Amino acid sequence: MRIVQLSDPHIVPADRQPVHGQDTLGRLRAAVDAVNRLIPAPDLVVMTGDQSNDGSEDSYRALKEVLSLLRFPCHMAMGNHDYRPVFRRIMLEESDADSAPYYYTLNRTGHRVIVLDTQEEGEVAGWLDDAQLNWLEQELSSGLPSVICMHHPPVPVGVAWMDELILQESDRFLRICEARTALRLILCGHVHHDFRMNLKHVTVLTAPSVGLQFRKDPVINADGTRVIATDEPAAFRIVDLDGSDWKTSIHRLTS
Ligand SMILES: [Fe+2]
Ligand SMILES: [Fe+2]
Repeated sequence: MRIVQLSDPHIVPADRQPVHGQDTLGRLRAAVDAVNRLIPAPDLVVMTGDQSNDGSEDSYRALKEVLSLLRFPCHMAMGNHDYRPVFRRIMLEESDADSAPYYYTLNRTGHRVIVLDTQEEGEVAGWLDDAQLNWLEQELSSGLPSVICMHHPPVPVGVAWMDELILQESDRFLRICEARTALRLILCGHVHHDFRMNLKHVTVLTAPSVGLQFRKDPVINADGTRVIATDEPAAFRIVDLDGSDWKTSIHRLTS
């Protein structure tokens, strides 16, 4: 099974670009074009949060227009920049959209892809409540090779300003993951760079952003404003999973 992880596009409409100096809409368009040309083709595309930069209706409409060019199904996890009621109404086309957490499992070619919702409304850091953790425990009990997709990494990534903003109180989550040997990978976004950590049989991976990459040391301008983005190109992660074996690579675009 081939998964393409597009993370953190931070979309706003064309007339409100750029975002932190980058044309995130143009970059997502280029990434969609690159994904469409991948060989082998992906079985599914997962977008691990911060689909929108501002949670606005216009931003999700712009996102939807670009994703209409993608030849593969795209499944999404909530990020801290997303706004559930608008996301649900525009992206999921729900008529009675509310702010209920959005988590679900995909079954593909003998594998399970479990998408979590770590958003805590109004907060930058992430959170999983007991209801979602109980559900996760059940979902992981199938014994099928599994991948978790979530926005906030459950472990520190070695960057001080980001490590304050990861999944909070992650002890129970990590205990559940470490108890299930069928779980192979945890794919995360949020930190806008490539990182890897092994936890027993499971590996935590974070992806670079398809919109903008973060600096590990933000630059503080003379006027006090903080520069957090770099000029590095957009990128996405490719994961090839075959039973319990997997390999991964980062595909970097040219701009
Ligand atoms: Fe982000
Ligand atoms: Fe985020």
